[in-house]
Amino acid sequence: MAIREIREKGDEILYMVCKPVKNFDKKLGILLDDMYETMKSKDGVGLAAPQVGILKRAVVIDVGDGKIELVNPQIISSSGTQIGNEGCLSVPGVYGEVERPNEVTVRAQNRNGEFFEISGKELLARAFCHELEHLEGKLFLDRVIRFEEN
Ligand code: CO
Repeated sequence: MAIREIREKGDEILYMVCKPVKNFDKKLGILLDDMYETMKSKDGVGLAAPQVGILKRAVVIDVGDGKIELVNPQIISSSGTQIGNEGCLSVPGVYGEVERPNEVTVRAQNRNGEFFEISGKELLARAFCHELEHLEGKLFLDRVIRFEEN
């Protein structure tokens, strides 16, 4: 495994739409392993492939309950609302309040290409929404209601 460079706000790759993963090969496994190690090294709870310069629909999340890998993820249902502070490893030092659904269910593939569904509430639901938006070339900054004063 290796720690990869995190792309930061202003890097054009963060604003591009990612392509579906078609090959569930060793290279994908290495990417997911590296993404997880990179995220952990920065104390993050989620990281999307474009944040390490790869325009593929792959995400890793760990809000403290273990590693979740999402390949070609889609939100299939959501309910409720929550407002809470959000940050991003690609926008270091910036935090702001963002409204998100309180419960989200995602359908995705694992690193072997097998489909599964996963549901999350609160922080996990927030992480699903935040990371999946990276795959559409969107940063949370566009959604901030109020930036945190430092
Ligand atoms: Co982010």
